Amino acid sequence: MNTTTPVVVVTGASAGIGAAAARRFGREGYRVALAARRRDRLEQVAATLQELGADALVVPTDVRDPQQVQRLADAVAQTWGRVDVLVNNAGLGRLAPLTALDPVDDILLQIQVNLTGAIWVARAFLPLMQAQRRGVIVNVASVAGWVGLPHYTVYAATKFGLRGFTEALRREVRPAGIRVVGLYPGPVRTEFGQHAFKDPTARPRATRWGRRLVLSAEDMAEVIWRVAQRPRRGVLSPWWMGPLVWLNTHFPGLSDRIITRAMR
Ligand SMILES: NC(=O)c1ccc[n+]([C@@H]2O[C@H](COP(=O)([O-])OP(=O)(O)OC[C@H]3O[C@@H](n4cnc5c(N)ncnc54)[C@H](OP(=O)(O)O)[C@@H]3O)[C@@H](O)[C@H]2O)c1
Repeated sequence: MNTTTPVVVVTGASAGIGAAAARRFGREGYRVALAARRRDRLEQVAATLQELGADALVVPTDVRDPQQVQRLADAVAQTWGRVDVLVNNAGLGRLAPLTALDPVDDILLQIQVNLTGAIWVARAFLPLMQAQRRGVIVNVASVAGWVGLPHYTVYAATKFGLRGFTEALRREVRPAGIRVVGLYPGPVRTEFGQHAFKDPTARPRATRWGRRLVLSAEDMAEVIWRVAQRPRRGVLSPWWMGPLVWLNTHFPGLSDRIITRAMR
């Protein structure tokens, strides 16, 4: 077994930010473990990685199931015996007024994928990282983990929760040499919007300016790559999310008025 080539594990690797992050690490010669539910899509990403000369391991995984998550961690440990970076990225949104969300298919689903799923995944890979006394975990949350918006109630709850988990875990495992990073993206062009709006007519149409402000999955993969090399506590991306979070934190009353009016 080649023990020197670094290993990255990416959840939600079948699409969007996760697939782009897998390709970004593959280009740098990492061995890449790919996890999500859709095997065919994971195989496509793996084929691209193999064209780049990178090893890929496809492990179909539903992060809602802790046993499947444990099988993913076991597969990586048995195949490659190490994990350098974990991109804890699988996630989805169900965006609608709270009363329009189904308790199971929308509310529980978001909690089980975005929050408890991310917790299972971090927990499953920690023993290997602790044995190595090193590793980086990048939890892909959202700017919705800082700012609550109408129709984002449960999504925001999961991402605020993931931010709290990230902060506490960072302090828990730093003495063991493990770094935990929170990534808080603003809007990114992916399949996210196709699954997020229960009412497709509620999906906002991007203006020309809006389109310019939205990042690509490759832009976000670049941020993930950089932060994995030089871990920081957290990254808000794009940069202009920073002032929005600052305004929301320090002027909550003004933010209430602006956001309520803008999203009416
Ligand atoms: N796009 C944005 O504007 C945006 C902004 C801020 C934060 N984010 C966050 O970025 C992350 C990636 O989202 P994206 O924009 O790249 O969306 P995307 O293109 O829809 O990709 C979502 C990924 O999550 C996987 N996934 C969904 N449910 C899963 C489950 N139960 N088990 C395992 N994998 C599951 C999907 O794979 P399968 O369907 O094959 O399982 C897919 O690979 C999410 O955590 C999202 O909340 C996105």
